[in-house]
Amino acid sequence: MSVVEVRQAAKTYLMGQIKVTALKGVDLTVEGGEFMALAGPSGSGKTTLLNLIGGFEKPTSGSVRVKGTDLAATSADALASLRARQMGFVFQNFNLLPVLTALENVEYPLLLSDKFSASRHRDLARQALERVGLSGHLLHRPMEMSGGQRQRVAIARAIVVEPDIILADEPTANLDHTTGEEILRLMKDINRVSKTTFIFSTHDQKIMDMADRVVRLLDGAFVEGA
Ligand SMILES: Nc1ncnc2c1ncn2[C@@H]1O[C@H](COP(=O)(O)OP(=O)(O)OP(=O)(O)O)[C@@H](O)[C@H]1O
Ligand SMILES: [Mg+2]
Repeated sequence: MSVVEVRQAAKTYLMGQIKVTALKGVDLTVEGGEFMALAGPSGSGKTTLLNLIGGFEKPTSGSVRVKGTDLAATSADALASLRARQMGFVFQNFNLLPVLTALENVEYPLLLSDKFSASRHRDLARQALERVGLSGHLLHRPMEMSGGQRQRVAIARAIVVEPDIILADEPTANLDHTTGEEILRLMKDINRVSKTTFIFSTHDQKIMDMADRVVRLLDGAFVEGA
């Protein structure tokens, strides 16, 4: 079953009087269990597309369906619930809450989701951190960890609700190359074992090579792989 269906999705932003076209009406189907890279130069529309799929923004025209649900036709509450139960997010700048420990950061999305009973939250968070190799860092705060470790916490936070889809916007951009590859291998491992669908953007050719499928954007349109 397709988990993501993007149909003729266009996005324009109005900057004063000037229209900026970020996406030109793109079609993309992503099947369950895919491990897909979104490539393209700066400004080509990668983040915009991920934001549409995550339901953070609405397309100017066209539609985005996630697991059959048309995001534009969904109430804010239903959208929040879909996100909290089915989606995980990993960002370039980690986006961890600085005052919380690794364990608390990973527990956070469980509080927003009604998928698991509260009594299990601590254990699930601990297990997710174990899975990314951070059992020894449960009580560290983001500032007390390396970039690679922080990105592992971000991945643990994304997988803890056992989502069907993980969206990752340049998850390796702030890491050195070796650490970036380790993070990708970890994501690939989760994809293989849990069949979680991954859609991640990157500029790095070596990281693209690790994907099962590469979709390339140029000036808001697909030029390859879609
Ligand atoms: N909120 C916004 N308001 C106005 N223009 C925007 C906004 N967000 C993106 N854009 C424009 O849309 C286009 C696509 O931007 P987007 O962030 O999707 O590119 P990208 O492929 O993610 O680039 P990068 O690799 O640098 O992250 C760019 O021209 C950008 O300036
Ligand atoms: Mg971007």
